[in-house]
Amino acid sequence: MMSAMDISELEISVKASLSSPELADAGVLVAEANWNQTADDWKVFVERGRVYAAHAPDGRIVATTATLPYGDRFAWISMVLVASAWRRRGLATRLMRRATDDLAAARLVPVLDATPDGHAIYRNLGYQDCWGFYRLKRQQPRGTAMPASASITVGSIRPADWAAVCEFDAAAFGADRRGVLSGLRGRLPEAELIAQSEGRIVGFSLGRNGRIASHIGPLVAESDSVACAILSHALEATDGPVFIDLADAKSAVRLFLEERGFAGVRPFTRMIHGSSKRFDDPARTFAVIGPEFG
Ligand SMILES: CC(C)(COP(=O)(O)OP(=O)(O)OC[C@H]1O[C@@H](n2cnc3c(N)ncnc32)[C@H](O)[C@@H]1OP(=O)(O)O)[C@@H](O)C(=O)NCCC(=O)NCCS
Repeated sequence: MMSAMDISELEISVKASLSSPELADAGVLVAEANWNQTADDWKVFVERGRVYAAHAPDGRIVATTATLPYGDRFAWISMVLVASAWRRRGLATRLMRRATDDLAAARLVPVLDATPDGHAIYRNLGYQDCWGFYRLKRQQPRGTAMPASASITVGSIRPADWAAVCEFDAAAFGADRRGVLSGLRGRLPEAELIAQSEGRIVGFSLGRNGRIASHIGPLVAESDSVACAILSHALEATDGPVFIDLADAKSAVRLFLEERGFAGVRPFTRMIHGSSKRFDDPARTFAVIGPEFG
């Protein structure tokens, strides 16, 4: 009976926090889509952005969408998840329209990273294709060594490096996102790396633990060789399955990763509402944090 219900009757709430049962519902949606997010990821949206939740008549969360502002120019939309029993009735479209309108009212340009499933929905709502990246996965560790470069040193990010790392990131990403970056600290310490050349920062990476794999990203670097030097260090130190969401334009780095056991999982398309003009720097953007964070 419930599955025949008109979705316009479902209550949509904006969550200031997520209770344990609500986090469990959100976790079910993540698992059903075979996504990687943990409770720590949901916490970022609740604390720094917004989580929209659609509730079935019994109160259970059956669909979500989240937004996350980055500075005063743009904001992310993500976590567009609908329980399979509630799909193809306009629920994702309804949540997306609400999130897009709320961001427009706040004068923020909505940006998102679409899976193939979500792409048509977003296009119908006025989102335009901008650039692409590919999720790559390594199932098990495999030969990661690469010849050391005399001019690039890679090491763990120290507290004294943090301000420079955040500034380097902001110049490449197009907004200061140190709040979100700070939240990644400690989640995958082996990926918290800085590359320097002649005393100057030339790249960095961070990462996080996940439900099904460790996820390395962002990876911001001045060149392919810096990116590969950072990855080499991170991969050597990281056990088990690893995801990297690598920009399609970085074909030399993709080859480097494929030689080290990575294979493509799925494509993503970065889309911007009403525009195709990107905010970030294509040269330095190697891997995103993930589609949910940009
Ligand atoms: C992608 C996803 C969010 C879509 O959710 P949804 O609620 O089914 O989306 P909608 O109902 O708004 O739209 C889906 C399709 O149903 C169609 N539809 C909407 N209302 C309908 C109705 N009453 N009857 C029949 N079809 C309908 C839409 O036109 C759309 O068709 P299209 O794919 O050909 O464009 C959902 O499949 C999902 O959670 N997938 C896994 C996670 C994922 O990939 N999320 C997207 C991240 S970018």
